[in-house]
Amino acid sequence: MTTPICDFVRAYAEKAPMRLHMPGHKGISSLGVEALDITEVTGADVLYGARGVIRESQENASRLFGTAKTLYSTEGSSLSLRAMLYLACLYAKEQGRETCRIAAGRNAHKTLVSAAALLDFEIDWLYGESLLCCKITAETVRAYLEQCEELPTAVYLTSPDYLGNTVDLAAIAEICHANGVLLLVDNAHGAYLKFLPEDRHPITLGADASCDSAHKTLPALTGCAYLHLSERAPKLFLDEAEGAMSLFASTSPSYLLLQSLDALNARLDGDFQKDLARLCDDMKRLCANLSEHGWTLLGDEPTKLTIAPKSYGYTGEELADLLAEKNIECEFYDRDFLVAMLSTAHSSDELARLKETFLALPRRAAICGSAPIPSRAERAMSIRKAMLSPKERLPIENCLGRVFASMSVSCPPAVPVAVCGEVIDGQTIACLQYYGITQCEVVK
Ligand SMILES: Cc1ncc(COP(=O)(O)O)c(C=O)c1O
Repeated sequence: MTTPICDFVRAYAEKAPMRLHMPGHKGISSLGVEALDITEVTGADVLYGARGVIRESQENASRLFGTAKTLYSTEGSSLSLRAMLYLACLYAKEQGRETCRIAAGRNAHKTLVSAAALLDFEIDWLYGESLLCCKITAETVRAYLEQCEELPTAVYLTSPDYLGNTVDLAAIAEICHANGVLLLVDNAHGAYLKFLPEDRHPITLGADASCDSAHKTLPALTGCAYLHLSERAPKLFLDEAEGAMSLFASTSPSYLLLQSLDALNARLDGDFQKDLARLCDDMKRLCANLSEHGWTLLGDEPTKLTIAPKSYGYTGEELADLLAEKNIECEFYDRDFLVAMLSTAHSSDELARLKETFLALPRRAAICGSAPIPSRAERAMSIRKAMLSPKERLPIENCLGRVFASMSVSCPPAVPVAVCGEVIDGQTIACLQYYGITQCEVVK
């Protein structure tokens, strides 16, 4: 597969022109990558107005992911999600709706909430078993749609979630489409799903659009992500996608990240699938060994190891400390969970080392208690109105009955414990305290 962006930038660096353009380092090395860090010079194309090397590279990515259109983001899935939600708002208008309503799993990343504040769409929350894990089923979606007086423009789901749970997107897509509702997927954690022996990517399973962080699960630099649009996405999505991305994006995309995405295409077109299949086999063995040994594992995502360690006598924090003593750093931990993200970059030997480390830990008396579940809070005002209201910061115990106004109070993986505009009740306070949050902003 061609790598036109990498080829262009390498040739440019080798030519060593006098750089009378940004960035200010002029290609002179401090970190070692500056020669390859260019801006949109002649021939380097323009992200979101692509006609040359970026277009060719994005088309390569589109072919690999089986999409109608794929656009690059050098600002993570956060950018792609905002653009995708903006497209949903435009589509709602095109359908003659006054407001755009999105039905979203309550475990959404905070980007959904900040997008609602920016774009002023309404959210109907779909609740699941806990804050981080919603496991929205096809039945949940069917029941929700059946009781709607007016159908939402889109159902928005996070799959995989932070704990490695995926939902039945194929069944949910069928229900959504039968009702004329779009299915939008936050697939930040699932770019690699396309390349499994059995393709489990949201676009393959029927989503209209998905946002994937290449950097989370594929060999790409931090910040690399995609907006994928499927063949069945509304024409408006395809026509307006570049404009939607550029509405929220920096006008200075990183060419290091663009090269990373470009080089990734060649890797994905090469041995990646074979390496991923090997990793999945190693992971199956690792998970089976840990389960047999008594560890409680969660999730169905093949490259994520999610442990609920309390049943084995450890909090997630204690377990993370013990792993850190062995020079093993995990993606995420809190009291209840520890999440390790494995990739094709890990060797079979490293997985064996991980197994030995876990099996060497003595079992202790189980720790009782689990994370409180946030309430289905009453909404006092829109997310946008609450976010733009005058605010005051109060100790959490003084917030009962007040309207939540913070954008940023999330439990660690950026899932909002409470959402702007909601009335804070006792259960929400207990939940915020559980995650160590001592103060929050409320509408004055
Ligand atoms: C579920 C989910 N969605 C979206 C994002 C944002 O992705 P990015 O960091 O690529 O902007 C994250 C980040 O952790 C996430 O966990």
